[in-house]
Amino acid sequence: MGTFREDRRGPVEIWTLDAEDTRNAISRAVLAELETRVARVSSAQDVRVVIFTGAGEKAFCAGADLKERATMSEPEVRAFLGGLRRVLRAVETSNTIFIAAINGSALGGGTELALACDLRIAAPAAELGLTEVRLGIIPGGGGTQRLPRLIGQGRAKDLILTGRRINAAEAFAIGLVQRLAPEGRLLEVALAAAEQIAENAPLAVAAAKHAVDRGVDLDIEAALALELEHYETVLRSEDRLEGLRAFAEKRRPLWKGR
Ligand code: COA
Repeated sequence: MGTFREDRRGPVEIWTLDAEDTRNAISRAVLAELETRVARVSSAQDVRVVIFTGAGEKAFCAGADLKERATMSEPEVRAFLGGLRRVLRAVETSNTIFIAAINGSALGGGTELALACDLRIAAPAAELGLTEVRLGIIPGGGGTQRLPRLIGQGRAKDLILTGRRINAAEAFAIGLVQRLAPEGRLLEVALAAAEQIAENAPLAVAAAKHAVDRGVDLDIEAALALELEHYETVLRSEDRLEGLRAFAEKRRPLWKGR
């Protein structure tokens, strides 16, 4: 391990992608470490939220490592892409909540990484873009599918077909990022969101995440049935009773995650 820096704030981990010389591009080494990290937090009860960010002022993540890519054979590129798709899906389906704190450029795979997260918070200097068509490829880490689900087909095509980069204000206006942080306060804003999420019951937060994510692809009847299925998991939980007790006793709940 060595391509990420890690800081712990109670139930929140901050992962800083630390490869400034490639503007935090995703190399095979970065991808392998990311996969190990995501598996670890997803099976750990004590890490409730992960904040992803990038080292330096320039980039959150400049996408795939294009220098490494130039040395790769076609099967190697295919294998890399398979790994990227697997890791991003693991982020998306994890019970842990992931927040992208976008400190600078998030291009190609960088925007795809942010899209796999539950929330995106941007610094004023952030820029986002699915720039792949400019390189003769298309987004292959889920970008063509996650972006229209988040911001709608028309806006997604505007970005994907032009390959243009947009600033934080435009990304916020179209719903690609959920919050804008004032200059110099990105981590503070991301941490505040993370802590607010981590105060809530673990099973409830995970159930709500999966209900939203899985429900958007279903028709309304099936989606409402799915919500009920997820409600069942919290209805049977000890934490539901603890929530009621804490409310009656005017104290903070002590969640057990069961
Ligand atoms: N992979 C590998 N190296 C990268 C990279 C990437 N995706 N993006 C940037 N770098 C490298 C540059 O080659 C350069 O290396 P060098 O010093 O050996 O020449 C170094 O990072 C700094 O890049 P530079 O462009 O000078 O930095 P910047 O701060 O002015 O701009 C970016 C940063 C991210 C806006 C710019 O580098 C960029 O547009 N990169 C391309 C990203 C891209 O198209 N990604 C999509 C992949 S599908």
